[in-house]
Amino acid sequence: MHLSKRVLVTGGAGFIGSYLCERLLEDGHDVICVDNLFTGTRMNIRHLLDHRNFEFMRHDVTFPLYVEVDEIYNMACPASPIHYQFDPVQTTKTSVHGAINMLGLAKRVRAKILQASTSEVYGDPEVHPQPEEYWGRVNPIGPRSCYDEGKRCAETLFFDYWRQHQLRIKVARIFNTYGPRMHPNDGRVVSNFIVQALRGEPISIYGEGQQTRSFCYVDDLVAGLMGLMATGDDVIGPINLGNPGEFTMLELAQMVIELTGSSSTLEFKPLPTDDPKQRKPVITKAKEVIGWEPKVALKEGLGKTIRYFDDLLSDRLNA
Ligand SMILES: NC(=O)c1ccc[n+]([C@@H]2O[C@H](COP(=O)([O-])OP(=O)(O)OC[C@H]3O[C@@H](n4cnc5c(N)ncnc54)[C@H](O)[C@@H]3O)[C@@H](O)[C@H]2O)c1
Repeated sequence: MHLSKRVLVTGGAGFIGSYLCERLLEDGHDVICVDNLFTGTRMNIRHLLDHRNFEFMRHDVTFPLYVEVDEIYNMACPASPIHYQFDPVQTTKTSVHGAINMLGLAKRVRAKILQASTSEVYGDPEVHPQPEEYWGRVNPIGPRSCYDEGKRCAETLFFDYWRQHQLRIKVARIFNTYGPRMHPNDGRVVSNFIVQALRGEPISIYGEGQQTRSFCYVDDLVAGLMGLMATGDDVIGPINLGNPGEFTMLELAQMVIELTGSSSTLEFKPLPTDDPKQRKPVITKAKEVIGWEPKVALKEGLGKTIRYFDDLLSDRLNA
């Protein structure tokens, strides 16, 4: 039997959040999308604004919120270094105060709550690939710490609310996710490479391009988040969600050049501070507990993402 729920998505006008809102509406739920539009846009949700089960609230999660809901997906937080380092104090506040406010709400209305955590909690890992049991190697005082430590503290708060108040929590550790609606200027590697290739500009490779990342297509990620939310109360996580396929930055750049047919060359630049050398999730837990694994191959997902950016750059999306 399918029961319709009232679902709150914080950060719902962002890249991942907007797909989540879309899928929840498709499943017949009422969706309240809360966002302060720092990195998210109305454009991402404009096709949902007239939906009778959709409500948008402009609100900053560092302030308390009172709504009646059954489930909360806490997605609000800038996710790319350029954006989260723009106002690092606000980034930590968003993660920490945002978590406290959303956990407080979940406690009050007895909602189930899922935290969008991140592979950044593993820092620059000495364990590869990263299982959930690994505690990570994070610099607590570097330029990335506002994000990494903010997300780590949010995980702590989730587990303390679970231990202390028996809240129904789910913690997902999301690895690099990509797809249409990524911000074109946020410095994330997939959007960067695609935009540079489409403009015929040199593609920026940091270091020698031998650092690896795993890339999960957004549809797969959203299926994983919803699958985790649907698990029994005994499943709390943390659970890695990501695509274990591992690619060097050079391989990614070559794939983007091939798929766009671009004449771009490669431009090598110094490595940024604390840039992790490798990132790859162990997803055994997600497979066992949620029955989830990514389905979209990198080439296929890149193709869809390239089409989106091509339209965006030629302004067809605003037409
Ligand atoms: N995209 C990834 O690869 C990735 C990887 C790991 C974790 N995550 C996590 O997933 C979540 C969504 O990431 P995304 O890639 O969609 O990023 P995004 O920047 O597109 O989305 C984040 C959204 O949160 C909103 N927001 C930021 N601060 C807020 C505040 N104080 N109050 C209300 N809204 C606020 C932004 O306006 C934006 O719409 C984030 O929590 C991020 O940390 C993403």
